[in-house]
Amino acid sequence: MANVTVIGAQWGDEGKGKIVDWLASRADAVVRFQGGHNAGHTLVIDGNVYKLSLLPSGIVSGTLSIIGNGVVLDPWALKAEVEKLEGQGVVINADNLAVADNCPLILPIHRDLDGLRETAAGAGKIGTTGRGIGPAYEDKVGRRAIRVCDLAHLDSLEPQLDRLCAHHDALRAGFDQPPVDREALLEELRGIADFVLQYAQPVWKRLKKVRKAGAKILFEGAQGVLLDIDHGTYPFVTSSNTVSGTAASGSGLGPNSTGYVLGIVKAYTTRVGSGPFPTELEDEIGQRLGERGHEFGTVTGRQRRVGWFDAVIVRQSCAISGVTGIALTKIDVLDGLDEVKICTGYRLRGNVYDYFPSHAADQAEVEPIYETMDGWSESTAGARSFADLPANAVKYVQRIQELIETPVALVSTSPERDDTILMRDPFMD
Ligand code: GDP
Ligand code: IMO
Ligand code: MG
Repeated sequence: MANVTVIGAQWGDEGKGKIVDWLASRADAVVRFQGGHNAGHTLVIDGNVYKLSLLPSGIVSGTLSIIGNGVVLDPWALKAEVEKLEGQGVVINADNLAVADNCPLILPIHRDLDGLRETAAGAGKIGTTGRGIGPAYEDKVGRRAIRVCDLAHLDSLEPQLDRLCAHHDALRAGFDQPPVDREALLEELRGIADFVLQYAQPVWKRLKKVRKAGAKILFEGAQGVLLDIDHGTYPFVTSSNTVSGTAASGSGLGPNSTGYVLGIVKAYTTRVGSGPFPTELEDEIGQRLGERGHEFGTVTGRQRRVGWFDAVIVRQSCAISGVTGIALTKIDVLDGLDEVKICTGYRLRGNVYDYFPSHAADQAEVEPIYETMDGWSESTAGARSFADLPANAVKYVQRIQELIETPVALVSTSPERDDTILMRDPFMD
């Protein structure tokens, strides 16, 4: 298999950015295929930290980076991110960045609506990133979105803009907000159009060419399977399909091209935002893991909720996403614990479950069944070979592998690019 699809197998922030960057040196193109700038992917290379939200993580190593049609694109966020990375010395131009001309745009009215809905929901809020992701996807499936290709035709945009704004005006009226200022919106689009259009193209065609030339393509998922609009903890999810299958529809290559599916899995569990989290720890161990793992959101700076490793949800994610092998990240954060726990099943109203039920109330009520293992006092931080891991850490990795019924291909032992243990090469498997 020449291509690799990277997805998050928990609630996001598993370390996808680090692993994509590490794999990017072996790839010829990196493709984002869903989500938007709600993602926050962190790369650390020789101590330099790069935080990417919209740009594929391959851009930092100079690999051809493609934003596929499945992404919702905020053009102003794109510009800001390009400028920020250029400020860090990253070279970005029309040769190494391509944006699908059929990407729907995130507009300021989407951000407004995201915020208005969250405020109105009060305690029942989703805890979104506030980036307008959900409202933009709604307009896409509602067939009223403005897309990248429309930026080349702003003089004839009025009928489309009217349809979109009529819909938003009705929603805004419900929140006591004034109607959309169509002229101001059009002016803002005029101001950003050329910047986006320099990268715009039918990326399916570019990918076809790249593929024909025998290139290796790396697909970079955002979020995680438990945030998937169908398979996640609905309604506390994001508004796209985050599973591996989306790599095909969200880029314009068929499902026979997406290759090895690499699930990124944190050695414990985190979640940012509201919603069920069976293994959540609200004690000092949770606090310790949060501090050691620097568990603060890359995008919003919010503190991430932390819990023990949940083998039930990861096994489910691996099945749903057809995961070939996993990259287990942040094992170093567990160093120094006397014991570590793994959730192997749930108890719910007297019954034992080996899967995460679909209903929100059941998801909120399940009680984890734990298996306890001895921890390790030695350091795993920075280990680059499996032989360097302490015996109990090896046992932990092996037990996870058994419980999730999926092999471990990589282990990550620090934020740094090269602190990565390769067990099976996804590009060769
Ligand atoms: P992503 O959204 O999946 O790309 O993950 P984030 O970048 O949002 O969050 C992962 C965080 O963990 C980042 O700060 C990474 O630098 C860091 N990280 C990644 N792998 C490791 C690891 O193996 N050990 C430690 N300690 N940190 C890691
Ligand atoms: P990466 O790619 C973690 C969460 C939000 C919220 C829910 C919906 O860095 O792993 P949205 O703004 O998408 O409508 O918010 O999804 N969320 C993420 N959590 N990592 C992410 O991305 C996330 N992107 C969205 O916190 O709970
Ligand atoms: Mg993240």
